[in-house]
Amino acid sequence: MNVKHIIAIAALFAACFASDAKVKVSIHEKAENQPVIPAEIYGQFAEHLGRCIYDGIWVGKDSPVPNVDGYRKDLLDALRVLKVPVLRWPGGCFADEYHWRDGIGPQENRPKMVNSNWGGTTEDNSFGTHEFMNLCEMLGIEPYISGNVGSGTVEELAKWVEYMTATDGPMAELRKANGRTEPWKLKYLGIGNESWGCGGCMRPEFYADLYRRYQTYCRNFSGNVLYKVASGASDYDYNWTRVLMQNARGVMDGLSLHYYSTMNWESKGSATSFSDADYYNLLGKAVEIDDVLRRHEAIMDEFDPKGEVDLLLDEWGTWWEVEPGTNPGHLYQQNTMRDAIMAALSLNIFNAHTGRLKMANIAQMVNVLQAMILTRGSEIVLTPTYHVFRMYNVHQNARFVPSEVGAAFKTAPDGRSYPSVSASVSRSDSGVYNISLANTDLAKGQTVELEFDGFVPASAGGEILTSGDIRDFNDFGADAGKVAPAAFTGIKKNGRKLTVELPAASVVVLRVY
Ligand code: AHR
Repeated sequence: MNVKHIIAIAALFAACFASDAKVKVSIHEKAENQPVIPAEIYGQFAEHLGRCIYDGIWVGKDSPVPNVDGYRKDLLDALRVLKVPVLRWPGGCFADEYHWRDGIGPQENRPKMVNSNWGGTTEDNSFGTHEFMNLCEMLGIEPYISGNVGSGTVEELAKWVEYMTATDGPMAELRKANGRTEPWKLKYLGIGNESWGCGGCMRPEFYADLYRRYQTYCRNFSGNVLYKVASGASDYDYNWTRVLMQNARGVMDGLSLHYYSTMNWESKGSATSFSDADYYNLLGKAVEIDDVLRRHEAIMDEFDPKGEVDLLLDEWGTWWEVEPGTNPGHLYQQNTMRDAIMAALSLNIFNAHTGRLKMANIAQMVNVLQAMILTRGSEIVLTPTYHVFRMYNVHQNARFVPSEVGAAFKTAPDGRSYPSVSASVSRSDSGVYNISLANTDLAKGQTVELEFDGFVPASAGGEILTSGDIRDFNDFGADAGKVAPAAFTGIKKNGRKLTVELPAASVVVLRVY
């Protein structure tokens, strides 16, 4: 080996080390015409499923659990901090078997039904339209009603809209008799859910016609203006999007999409007991949504180049085996640092798609799937995913700022790829830059260098979410605060650059002034 070879090898080594040791994030704050990130990207979903509504949100006025008019007080407090922009209800699959008239009037007179989708549980309808709409009103949340197309009638859905939103007329009189004088404001109306599956097993051609018919009779009453959402595809079903765009684009405001991340549907894997390989595989599956969104968006662009129809990812999240000893139909799962990192990567991706993507609703808000909140009797636990949503809420209604992350994509054991570092940047009206970062590596910290095109940061601070083990979670009792955000101190200013030390498996949100 001669000197030339040694120099070449040394240069190669230095290059590899440098790219591994320092990740450069270039922030293009001067880029024009960037979309505002709709607050609705940080939306939630609450279904009559397991203990989401009952126990989770609603305990009733006579419950020993501290409550405000029947709603858990600890939940209301946690949701206020979270700043929930929009809440989808009553399903999911439940929506296509829900008959709204069963859920109004004196609670003791409301008929019961079997919740056949979710564990055969008896539904007593004590949480209905008034309880949902009042909750939203109380917390300043935009309600998103998912209407019954699968087993309901056009008249039933039309009358529900009238009941909620009309000032006068027979449905308004009925509402008034039930104690609510003023109509509520209702923007988002979903017309069916998963109409290809639990919502009626339809072909897209048939559903497109049915959608056209149902939406015709959902009227705007008393100054209320509906935003109508057609039931969309699952994951990789691009044909569903194509057929809906072809046949119904002129009469829809939004088209939905569902995308869940799991190990595989036959054996979903435990929420808390998993290998490092399982973790990396999950990240690969989760970030594949970037491509899935792009492909649905490309079809929408074909039919709607002006972008008049929005894409709404109104169900997404992780889906694990239920916690041992719980009803398999109730989808109650724990939530670890793995779910938090997955949420951070997903939200960073969604921020970048908000040219077309205008809403995303994580499934679900309480006690079901990738929940924000878990409850047991009068105890409450905020999950690692809650903390990510709370930290990320600075992106709500901020303007998207394009950035490039000079980090390697790595290959997960199952062959999918995931980023070693993920980032998203936005600018609030006040001029503050919000920078969310995630280091996915379980073993290594990452030095990240943030560089703006022209802006010179004066100061920066932030929060970090990390834990000793990716399998850590918050549990009832002493471990309720095991995974919790802390002030972030690993940041140095160097002229136009900020150097950030991200520990292994961490999520950081910075506020840069
Ligand atoms: O979120 C749980 C279920 O997942 C919903 O009810 C359904 O729409 C989806 O399949």
